[in-house]
Amino acid sequence: MKPSGRITDNFGEGFNYKIPEKGWFKLKGFIPEETIDEIRASNDIVNVVSDYVRIRKQGNNYVGLCPFHNEKTPSFMVSGDKQIFRCFGCGEGGNVISFIMKLEKLSFPEAVRFLANRAGITIPEEDDPVKSAKLKELKEAHEINELVKDFYRYILANHQIAGEARSYLKKRGLTEKTIDKFQIGFAPPSWDGLLRFLDKKGYAPEKLEKLGLVLHTSKGKPGFYDRFRNRVIFPIWDIRGKIVGFGGRVLDDGVPKYLNSPETIVFNKSHLLYGINKAAESIRRNDQAIIVEGYLDVITCHQAGIFNVVASLGTAFTREQGKLLLRYSQEVIMAYDADVAGVHATMRGWQLLDDLGCRVRVVSIPDGKDPDEFIRTHGADKFLDVVRQNAQSLSEFNTDRALEKYDMTTLEGKFKIASEVIPSIINISNEIEKNEAVMKLAKRLHLSPEAVRAEVGKKLRTSRNSWLNRDKITDARNNNDNRVSGQIVSGDEDARSKAEESLFVLMLSDKNIFLKVKEEIGIHFSLRLEYLRIINLLNEIVENELDYQPAVLFDRLQNEPAAEILKRLLLIEMPQDNRTQLIVDCIRTVKEDEIRKKREELLEKMEEADKSRDQELRKQLLLEYSKLI
Ligand code: CTP
Ligand code: MN
Repeated sequence: MKPSGRITDNFGEGFNYKIPEKGWFKLKGFIPEETIDEIRASNDIVNVVSDYVRIRKQGNNYVGLCPFHNEKTPSFMVSGDKQIFRCFGCGEGGNVISFIMKLEKLSFPEAVRFLANRAGITIPEEDDPVKSAKLKELKEAHEINELVKDFYRYILANHQIAGEARSYLKKRGLTEKTIDKFQIGFAPPSWDGLLRFLDKKGYAPEKLEKLGLVLHTSKGKPGFYDRFRNRVIFPIWDIRGKIVGFGGRVLDDGVPKYLNSPETIVFNKSHLLYGINKAAESIRRNDQAIIVEGYLDVITCHQAGIFNVVASLGTAFTREQGKLLLRYSQEVIMAYDADVAGVHATMRGWQLLDDLGCRVRVVSIPDGKDPDEFIRTHGADKFLDVVRQNAQSLSEFNTDRALEKYDMTTLEGKFKIASEVIPSIINISNEIEKNEAVMKLAKRLHLSPEAVRAEVGKKLRTSRNSWLNRDKITDARNNNDNRVSGQIVSGDEDARSKAEESLFVLMLSDKNIFLKVKEEIGIHFSLRLEYLRIINLLNEIVENELDYQPAVLFDRLQNEPAAEILKRLLLIEMPQDNRTQLIVDCIRTVKEDEIRKKREELLEKMEEADKSRDQELRKQLLLEYSKLI
């Protein structure tokens, strides 16, 4: 603090660089202020400090052993909220730049460059006329957008023409405080309201056109007109809180519902997340980001006290947006609309975030609502409950979607469901999670984990880019034993599979046995996809009154994995005596195992019902359970 004297001890109010007049000018010329802001914003102090010091969370702050003096008990504190560090032992303190200066023994500009490098930001050089012109343009763009926001806000707050807009926002449940916080405004219906306002401020329409605020009159006529008319206006900020563009919503159900700024030198939609400047802190503190689709979803969440929420501005989620989130947290919850577009966007966004290394989960909001509607009807607590309880991995999410589409009581349906879900399992990079996904899908489809694993292996081998997946294939092969998540298949499961095997051997030898089994337990009882395939063919043969000959099956199966299984089954000899008893026993084993599985399922459901304190559901489940005993 003393020799450099750059930082005031006023920690609450941010940082003033007390640099001697000369140094200040030099600094300004050296690295533009805006760039320094950006560099600081891109280097979260908690992350930077963690590169050097072991810190752990304590309340809202982090504590650790001070790197600037020797100590045994931690008196070094980092605040993510305030983006500062301070040591109660030696009195050292400052922001991320001062931390690096001190620790890496660098001058101010050197530390700034160091951090720029760390965040992958290029510093424009002062003697580059093109770059400095560009910087001037950027600065002016921000100034103009600031004025535009003021203009729209003024109209909303004061002008009688905005009466309808004010009641619209009220109807949507926004408070004055929220309108203020999100700097919401109103663009009047006139063709040149903004144009005239900015003309008085001395800004030429050509400049405004470049920022997407006004449009050229068509057909070669001279003149311009306002882009946003008769719309509620939402300013859009970048991470530093600079206004870079606007979104405008109609008051009724006119189209387009939203009109946004076009791409400009400051508005790059694919790099922005609506609300990130207001959400970043909370995302880090909660170590979780919730992504929603729309402006009002973000706003309603914030109003309801949920701050770690950002919107992807429409449906497409980009890599850049993902990287932006990753600065603050690895854990991402996608809470998109439940409509078709939302589901589609979820799938694409998920993949992208997963590739970037995020832990992604998806929430389907009940009743097909978006977060805004849901919170307004059920409140924030219910929404957080939904996030906690319904957040699914992509494969679970896909399973639900596929179960809605296909009939899982048929073999064909099971195949279709499996083939829709398996790609999202193959893509899971973490092996433990992958195993879990296999188990879950097997359970939902009533198949053995081995059957699903075999399908996963098959998909991997046939995948067109299999050379790209070499590692994954090796993993899958190495995993091809009986173990699933460290558990060895239980004895019961073993009895079940023995019973199934015997039944199949017997059914293949005798049409009447097939008929008996079908009558007792139907044809969908097996946990193995290959068995299901075989029994389905047997059924076809019987129903079409064809020759009951296993050989026929081979033609149908060709190179399918079930053909191998069939070969094996046909090699097994069964004793001739006591067949009837054997069949009865096998059928009972299958039935009992089914009941055991149902009971386990019910127990799990009861546990969930306990967790969500749903007494009614619990009672119902208990009743079902008691019937099974
Ligand atoms: N969007 C857009 N242009 C459109 C429609 C939508 O840019 N023509 C973007 C907006 O950012 C919008 C988001 O997509 O907030 C989600 O769209 P949608 O679900 O249709 O709107 P909501 O946010 O639910 O809007 P509202 O609740 O006001 O109807
Ligand atoms: Mn909505």
